[in-house]
Amino acid sequence: MVSLEKIASLAKRRGFIFPGSEVYGGINGFWDYGPLGVELRNSIKKFWWDSMVRDHENVVGLDAAIITHPKIWEASGHVEHFNDPMVDCVDCKKRYKQDALEDLTKCPECGGELTEPKQFNMMFKTTVGANDDNSSIAYLRPETAQAIYVNFKNCQTTSRRKLPFGIAQIGKAFRNEINPRNFTFRSREFEQMEMQFFVNPKEDEEWFEYWLKTRLKWYEELGFKKENITILNPDKLAHYAKAVHDIEYKFPFGVQEIEGIHNRTDYDLSKHTEFAGKDFSYSEPQGKEKYIPYIIETSAGLDRCLLAVLCEAYHEEKLDGDDERIVLKFNPKIAPIQIAVFPLAKKLKEESAKVEKMLRNLFRTEHDYTGSIGKKYRRYDEIGTPYCITFDFESLEDKMVTVRDRDTMKQERVAIADLQSYFLEKLF
Ligand code: GAP
Repeated sequence: MVSLEKIASLAKRRGFIFPGSEVYGGINGFWDYGPLGVELRNSIKKFWWDSMVRDHENVVGLDAAIITHPKIWEASGHVEHFNDPMVDCVDCKKRYKQDALEDLTKCPECGGELTEPKQFNMMFKTTVGANDDNSSIAYLRPETAQAIYVNFKNCQTTSRRKLPFGIAQIGKAFRNEINPRNFTFRSREFEQMEMQFFVNPKEDEEWFEYWLKTRLKWYEELGFKKENITILNPDKLAHYAKAVHDIEYKFPFGVQEIEGIHNRTDYDLSKHTEFAGKDFSYSEPQGKEKYIPYIIETSAGLDRCLLAVLCEAYHEEKLDGDDERIVLKFNPKIAPIQIAVFPLAKKLKEESAKVEKMLRNLFRTEHDYTGSIGKKYRRYDEIGTPYCITFDFESLEDKMVTVRDRDTMKQERVAIADLQSYFLEKLF
């Protein structure tokens, strides 16, 4: 299995992920996504949105503000419960999550004495407006879910949906993690892809099963091998949950959670009913039944998913002689660049540019006219480009180009006039 160091080094070298604020020495737990990283993020988000919203007529979208009324976090229980017990070393001042120390009673770094555990709330605080007192405190959201709950009625009535129905949202979340680690896996700023599905309380278990299956299938379609994705049924449940299944990926540093499927019951809507004094109940058509809906939540981390995609795609392959290549075997649908177009010689670059232009409205393409073809193949293999096209001198005569497949390295001649349909079949 590839090491995390190799993934982080490739991610930086090729422009997927840079350490945040690097020129100032970095800031722990924050990352910047470069030119290829942002394309990969966007295509994973699209893959998720198409599956969750476009493919489900009973799911609609939302894009809510990151900063919300602070009462939301009192109602949700985050102000009271979103804590991690932590201990400090009195000598070297290092801070640890208590559960990460297991049974250790001394500092693992320097052997110093440890303080008694203190509760540490992981929400980032900020102030809103000109006053800098307690009345202006607000929080950066630690999950996107709550903004969906408080918009339940807005979305349900304006989209004229009956239950069961869901609201999906992709957006940033922030947690002041004590020990950010494992590259982007545990960050302080990250993005979630969450969907909250509102159901009749009598149907909660069947919908829980439905969404678990749907989400597992999505990971397979994204390109993960079945054996690398597992499900954990944890013993310890979050304060809001009746049932939880974690979807986990086999990372180089161990099997770890990438998504949680939660049965949150009517916990959140009941709390918002209590704190906001608004009615979140739902009446079935023809007055059959009235209830506070149960919520089945699918909560995926985009950054963890992207890291898993990089690990899954990474391959080192021996070629003829001593030659070898690094290749990222992304699912072609999510590759940051899907087609690279080259001229065999610089004097053909206007012709090859026309081919690239013909494809760019349909696919993520790049025109590259510097360096040798061999070097370009290595570069595009390493960034996971599934197809490379070479325009050569014969192309001027026969109006055909050579298409090279990343995985098989086989080449075939394809008529320029057929390129759009050729790639539509492969990349859609
Ligand atoms: N709304 C429910 C919720 O937030 P969670 O299990 O705390 O549940 C859901 O988080 C997902 O968000 C996780 O499975 C993970 O993918 C991602 N996530 C949570 N904390 C993270 C962190 N510090 N860095 C990166 N991703 C994180």
